[in-house]
Amino acid sequence: MRSLFHKTIGFCLLGFAVVSCHDKGDPNYQYMPDMYEPIGYEAYGEYDVFENGQEAKLPVEGTIPRGWMPYDYQNNPEDAAVAKTDLKNPLPYTQDNYVEGKALYTIYCAVCHGDKGDGKGILVEREKILGVPSYDDAGRAITEGSIYHVMYYGLNNMGSYAAQTTIEERWQIDHYVMSLKDKLEGKPEREYVEETGEPTQLLPSRADANLYDDAGDMNSDQENQNDQTETQE
Ligand code: HEC
Repeated sequence: MRSLFHKTIGFCLLGFAVVSCHDKGDPNYQYMPDMYEPIGYEAYGEYDVFENGQEAKLPVEGTIPRGWMPYDYQNNPEDAAVAKTDLKNPLPYTQDNYVEGKALYTIYCAVCHGDKGDGKGILVEREKILGVPSYDDAGRAITEGSIYHVMYYGLNNMGSYAAQTTIEERWQIDHYVMSLKDKLEGKPEREYVEETGEPTQLLPSRADANLYDDAGDMNSDQENQNDQTETQE
């Protein structure tokens, strides 16, 4: 009994001696270090063999990410004027596009511009924001192109919608805004065109727009499950 008691104390002291020597600041022993330290380069690692010493590289200037399209107009008054006259809605005026545009408009725009587009949204009525124009404002004479441009870049108190919406969604909203403008001006309703099923090239000015075909092939399995796989800008 006595000897067992002594042995226990002896083991405890030995255990303390071993554990207490370990410095917590030092790395501990590694079992199979290859599992922790990869042999390949780490994506954001620092290595002398690379220019600037870093593995991660910036894309080459002028690189266009897959599924993204550059917008040809800059954010300045000259380009805004050209977009206003030249930029046309590439989406056909189908009922689907109209309905989708209306839903998106109600989400993003109606709080300020109002359900009718008369500039009397809830935020205006509560005087949270001022200077929201009606879409039939003669001085502005908005067009398909100018609506798209203002959604892309925003204008003074109105923010940009380039990050929240895809190219297609912006053009759908565009159709709906034009329909509100027509209604405010008392014009007859525009007739829908039939759905052809043909894919639409969303920015007519770009020659290399077949980027979309590739993206479509890759995502075709998921497309129905997840709308977000569609082409984003
Ligand atoms: C936070 C409130 C707010 C929201 C939300 C908003 N707008 Fe505006 N919008 C404004 C204001 C304010 C102006 C006037 C800007 C100016 O001329 O200084 C404006 C102006 C416009 C114009 C006229 C631009 C021109 O050429 O003179 C259009 C078209 C327009 N908005 C469309 C939209 C669309 C489409 C959406 C939704 C995607 C939207 N707006 C969302 C506040 C808003």
